[in-house]
Amino acid sequence: MRLSKEFREQFAQQEMRTHGRKNGFVTDGQEKRLLHWLPKIGLPKDKTLNDANIPEKSSIVMEIGFGNGDFLVDTAKKHPDWILVGVEIYLPGVAKAVGRLEDAGVIEQARITQLPAQYVLEHQVQVEQLDGIIVNHPDPWPKAKHHKRRIIQKDMANLMVSRLQVGGFIQLASDIAELAEWMRDILDNTQGLRNVAGKGAYIERADDRIFTKFEQRGIHAGRTSQFLHYVKE
Ligand SMILES: C[S@@+](CC[C@H](N)C(=O)[O-])C[C@H]1O[C@@H](n2cnc3c(N)ncnc32)[C@H](O)[C@@H]1O
Repeated sequence: MRLSKEFREQFAQQEMRTHGRKNGFVTDGQEKRLLHWLPKIGLPKDKTLNDANIPEKSSIVMEIGFGNGDFLVDTAKKHPDWILVGVEIYLPGVAKAVGRLEDAGVIEQARITQLPAQYVLEHQVQVEQLDGIIVNHPDPWPKAKHHKRRIIQKDMANLMVSRLQVGGFIQLASDIAELAEWMRDILDNTQGLRNVAGKGAYIERADDRIFTKFEQRGIHAGRTSQFLHYVKE
């Protein structure tokens, strides 16, 4: 990877501790697009969403762990009036997503960061600034001793709620039954949130929902995904 030191210091996350891979191969073409687009739509570490040129009337929806960006692109196309804040710690994922957003003609609707979602929410997003948060197929960390690495934790749930406007949503998906239950149990017991399906329940898969890479992987392995939808009251 030949991203310059200055570029990496501004846009790439190196020093913050996270669980999961951060770096990997980025092609020359992807690198060129990153260098072109991140200075325009990237969210540098020392800036907040208030500095991100977001049109005043736009809804702001964050996707945490967008992987290769398929869902981000599809959501941007379906909601031209939304600004999508894409948060993904894996640089090759960021690179793929930037390419896909550009090819789909929706890149100016996106604000992209490689920083960990916990940092972005705590330091770069204001209280009640978001209209929605999407988390699709987060890492399951199946061993009990690694459960503390899962992205949905009690503190994270409270942080997410604090960043949502009243009426804002949290949507989650998982193809791992035990993780879906984990997320549901935490969010069902988070003050200020209402489970749209009713406590302990999941919503139906939306007909127009695209299949993300990890949902497809689950299907190939014979697993059925579960979907959760919460609203801040
Ligand atoms: C299992 S993948 C799912 C990708 C995609 N959402 C999908 O459904 O195909 C989980 C993603 O979350 C990202 N991730 C893990 N921890 C994160 C964090 N703290 N902040 C942002 N992204 C994170 C990983 O790098 C990975 O790309």
